[in-house]
Amino acid sequence: MERIEVAGGARLQGEVTVRGAKNSVLKLMAGCLLAPGHSTLLDVPDILDVRIMAELLRRLGCTVEHDTGAHVVTVDVPDEPGHRADYELVRAMRASISVLGPLVARVGRVDVAMPGGDAIGSRGLDLHVAGLEALGATVHVDHGYLVAQAPRGLTGAEVPLAFPSVGATENLLMAAVLATGTTVLDNAAREPEVVDLAEMLVAMGARIDGIGTGRLVVEGVEGLHPVEHRVVADRVVAGSWAYAAAATGGDVLVRGGRADHLRLPLDKLRAAGADVLADAAGFRVVGPRRAQAVDVATLPYPGFPTDLQPFAVALGAVSLGSAVITENLFESRFRFVDEVARLGADVRVDGHHVLVRGRPRLSGAPVVATDIRAGAALVVAGLVADGVTTVEGAGHVDRGYEDLVGTLAGLGAQVRRSTVDDATGLLAP
Ligand code: UD1
Repeated sequence: MERIEVAGGARLQGEVTVRGAKNSVLKLMAGCLLAPGHSTLLDVPDILDVRIMAELLRRLGCTVEHDTGAHVVTVDVPDEPGHRADYELVRAMRASISVLGPLVARVGRVDVAMPGGDAIGSRGLDLHVAGLEALGATVHVDHGYLVAQAPRGLTGAEVPLAFPSVGATENLLMAAVLATGTTVLDNAAREPEVVDLAEMLVAMGARIDGIGTGRLVVEGVEGLHPVEHRVVADRVVAGSWAYAAAATGGDVLVRGGRADHLRLPLDKLRAAGADVLADAAGFRVVGPRRAQAVDVATLPYPGFPTDLQPFAVALGAVSLGSAVITENLFESRFRFVDEVARLGADVRVDGHHVLVRGRPRLSGAPVVATDIRAGAALVVAGLVADGVTTVEGAGHVDRGYEDLVGTLAGLGAQVRRSTVDDATGLLAP
């Protein structure tokens, strides 16, 4: 078991480089399944989830190479890929379900393990299923697997989404590009990662109108061809660095960060007293000596991203005044709040709101990462806590952040990884 130890007190200073988005590259890798042959993805982050998706694709018969130094992934897709995503992989990474759409479209059948419980709330699959059924697939559950079949192919249809789900929009888009006729996805998600996927599909020969809007119109085509595509920059990682800079009163240049994909979070940081300067290279955040408390409510894009909500709580915990942080997407995302309370934060949860009363500093303690973002936000909270904070579950952070510890150290933080002996729970020598 690995953990991250961070000493409080540093003002982060320097530069970080943001790579391609986790939430995009995983779907782009799944999207490669739509065309036989050799596709190439550029600016791929070296994170655990990419390795899990690579393993999933290998088990489907693909050859996957990941050059971590060059940040390139190549995927060779066979003429007849497999159709099964094992429980072992889906449990390790829920985004494994994004092979659902491409495989049912390409192979006519897919068996994907049901993801089951999730650390950030019971995330349903109903919208994915209803959409595939609207396109003519039959779907049933068999021994823990969701089985979707369309042996004679999919047929375009009107698919109104009850909620602009990112995952459902992406799965249905990847299914519709090879369907016969026209599909209209209404109330589609507009996240930059959805746009990135749509643009890659167009480069593969798909016909999609309305990219970036809530109404995607897809004309099905007979086949797609392989592609070379650069992954859109990770706005959540960029936003994490922005919050870390603001919370520590630091000065960080986020190279490659897309300010246009972070309008609301960066506006919130300005309201908190930070200076945010965007240019072609990225953006720079200069934190105030002490931030002012700012209310935040998460919403689908272009609203405030739920993935940055824990960072807003962490910043609020050391701000001047009180803020209400509202989570509108995932019910269990406040599990992070119990952990940040262990660091002395004055936080009170009421339903899907949390009232945060700022304190000058937090107080270092051992805490547990419950998911990727909670883990990284606890490290940020550790930076504004007296003494040492130990974040257990560094593996969660590795799923979405490339070398968080090394990057933080480069910005002047005192931080290190340590290994804990599983049997005794004591620090290994
Ligand atoms: C993706 C992101 C995640 C981000 C989220 C919202 C990836 C790998 N993950 O997750 O980091 O926090 O978007 O921006 O890209 N829902 C249903 N039924 C469904 C589908 C979704 O009820 O069939 C609900 C979920 O329970 C949740 C909400 O819709 O409450 C949002 O989920 P969704 O947009 O699908 O998020 P993900 O694609 O799972």
